[in-house]
Amino acid sequence: MSDPQAIEQLFSLTATQAEVGRANQILQPTLGEHSVLLLDGDRHQRQRHLLMPPFHGERMRAYGDVIRQITNQVTAEWQAGRKIVARSFMQEISLQVIMQTVFGLDQGDRYTNLKQNLQAFLEVTATRLGFVVALFPFLQRDYGAWSPGARFNRMKQGIDDRLYAEIRSRRQTEEGDRTDILHLLMQARDEAGQPMTDGELRDELITLLLAGHETTATALSWALYWIHQLPEVKARLLAELASLGSDADGTAIARLPYLGAICSETLRIYPITMITPPRILTLPMAVMGYEFEPNAMLAACIYQTHRRPDLYPEPLQFKPERFLERSFSPYEYLPFGGGNRRCIGAAFALYEMKLALATILTQFDLQLLEPRPVKTIRRGVTLAPQGGIRMQVVGRRSSFAAPDQLTTVPAPVGRSD
Ligand code: HEM
Repeated sequence: MSDPQAIEQLFSLTATQAEVGRANQILQPTLGEHSVLLLDGDRHQRQRHLLMPPFHGERMRAYGDVIRQITNQVTAEWQAGRKIVARSFMQEISLQVIMQTVFGLDQGDRYTNLKQNLQAFLEVTATRLGFVVALFPFLQRDYGAWSPGARFNRMKQGIDDRLYAEIRSRRQTEEGDRTDILHLLMQARDEAGQPMTDGELRDELITLLLAGHETTATALSWALYWIHQLPEVKARLLAELASLGSDADGTAIARLPYLGAICSETLRIYPITMITPPRILTLPMAVMGYEFEPNAMLAACIYQTHRRPDLYPEPLQFKPERFLERSFSPYEYLPFGGGNRRCIGAAFALYEMKLALATILTQFDLQLLEPRPVKTIRRGVTLAPQGGIRMQVVGRRSSFAAPDQLTTVPAPVGRSD
């Protein structure tokens, strides 16, 4: 559905009127049966209440410095002339950020091993074959050591072993003052006073790690693309960033209107997922003259809604100003879905995008190495830029001031990643 009136109806459905976890069962082999994405009803609500707080308000803002530090570390070796694939670096930033948020881990063997396992798993599931294998259990059968199914299972097992090892170690040495999500989940008790089992913890951890990093990495890569594709957008953004001064904190950066509008427009023009997970009706429903029976699967088409000319004139043009000129309802602009399933990490993803972009743009002068408009390809369940956005570091800014005073160190010879 791409009519806001229909989407409003869809997003207003309660847990007794429609199920989403049931429609997401296809992700069960990867995420596990206890994942919040696969639950419905009371269990779903309970898990959401547990998972939401760290991604909002003060708790989220406490991660501002971490996001900026990680961005600095990941880009530390960018030198004038170096050619980069933006997506690889954005993926590294978002993976490190989510691992820190979820586990409070940022170094050591346990961290490095889990990170490597996750990266390898994501690279495989991003390919067409790997994606299909991840979705269909019959393809996960072991048809010999090098069959896709055996490979998928080995990788998944590698991640599970490390997640369970982390959970075991934390059960033994848990400290009271931790703020990471694993700590919160381990403290939580259900109505009967019971804590979450290791299996439940594993499923929520993998869900957050996978849902929280591929998406943000793709959004950041697209944002870099549009900023460098359109000189007037870049100039206006740099002027806004310069107006803040060098000692601005994360909250001040996150409030910048034009930076916010760029992030919104990025997620409008190429939303990371084309449709929301479908809602399976449990009761009959009429939508704009159409009658649907129980078990009908209805989804909002984010992509088409975002390209409606009645809402977004010249929809194929990247125009951040549209978000400064008017506001859009949750049924007109829905990159994070909506209703009782709206993305848990929406505020966090936007915060991370803004801080990472500001950190990169105030330090580096970059240029696109894409001679033609970049197309989208499917990467797992997301829509991503083909080729990952090739760019070149023109130079490191020696100081950050208004754009006409910007100085950069010129590029010597090129280098490619
Ligand atoms: C730009 C980044 C992101 C985009 C575009 C995005 C998009 C979405 C969308 C479209 C949904 C489905 C909502 C619906 O059914 O209506 C969703 C759900 C979800 N997202 Fe995100 N997401 C992003 C980042 C994150 C991050 C950073 C996290 C966690 C740390 C996260 C965790 C989740 C979870 C757990 C759900 C399932 C919610 C539920 O079923 O109740 N996402 N996301």
